[in-house]
Amino acid sequence: MTMEELMKKAADAAEHSYSPYSKFRVGAALLCANGELVTGTNIENRSFGLTVCAERNAIATALGKGITEFKALAVSCPDADYPVSTCGACRQVISEFVNEDFPIAFQGGKGEMVQRKMTELFPDNALEELKN
Ligand code: THU
Repeated sequence: MTMEELMKKAADAAEHSYSPYSKFRVGAALLCANGELVTGTNIENRSFGLTVCAERNAIATALGKGITEFKALAVSCPDADYPVSTCGACRQVISEFVNEDFPIAFQGGKGEMVQRKMTELFPDNALEELKN
């Protein structure tokens, strides 16, 4: 699956976003090492701090299926004018399960796609010493 195809799945996932407060839909699509595709979307709450990003929901869904190895991640923000990068909390969570070359692509509503490696988004892998 190409990154463009994965991004299309992320854009589809954004359609299920529950974001009545920010009105900012986000979809994430994870290509798993076993070939499976897992998606997530942002789920907001009226207690704003309980909002969970699309990326972390995708990771949690995959882990819940017993999948812990991933090939690529695409993040779509159809309501943005430009590709919006993943937040700091999600960078920490994604980094738990991928290596430094792991590709992550971003796309806004205008089609431009930006691709980064995990290490570019999270260069000093915080708390790495606690990992087995
Ligand atoms: N959001 C994500 O789902 N992923 C990101 O990488 C950035 C932010 C969500 C959280 C909230 O529902 C909305 O976008 C605005 O911050």
